[in-house]
Amino acid sequence: MSLEALYREVILDHYRSPRNKGRLEDPTVVVELKNPVCGDEIALYLKLDQGRVEAVRFEGRGCSISQASASMMTQAIRGKSLEEALELVERFKGMVRGELAVEEADLGDLEALHGVSKFPVRIKCAVLAWEALKKGLESDESRVTGEVE
Ligand code: FES
Repeated sequence: MSLEALYREVILDHYRSPRNKGRLEDPTVVVELKNPVCGDEIALYLKLDQGRVEAVRFEGRGCSISQASASMMTQAIRGKSLEEALELVERFKGMVRGELAVEEADLGDLEALHGVSKFPVRIKCAVLAWEALKKGLESDESRVTGEVE
């Protein structure tokens, strides 16, 4: 199997069987973010406790890239400190924007999404969940809404 085919498999697997999909019962912050290009939305539920991401789930609809990215993101950040999670956001955004080489990004399964850097419209799809995460981590509010930039 070529590397490209493997990447496609990873994305499709997360799209078809998203991890941590659904509501979280007792979130400390909920972020609803829209991709203005297509109208797709994500709701991200975060439970932050003592400076850590104790639990994270998401709901929403969208293309395979946005859903796979959200699914992989929830796996990557659970248990991380807020600083670690924010650093991961920047690393992921750097990779999908083509500013950071895949080897440098060192993001495991998430590297399957690096190919979107060649398709500017898809970059918004890939970062939707991550922008939601950033807003959630940086906000003092328990509910945040907005659009991905
Ligand atoms: Fe809407 Fe990708 S087309 S998030």
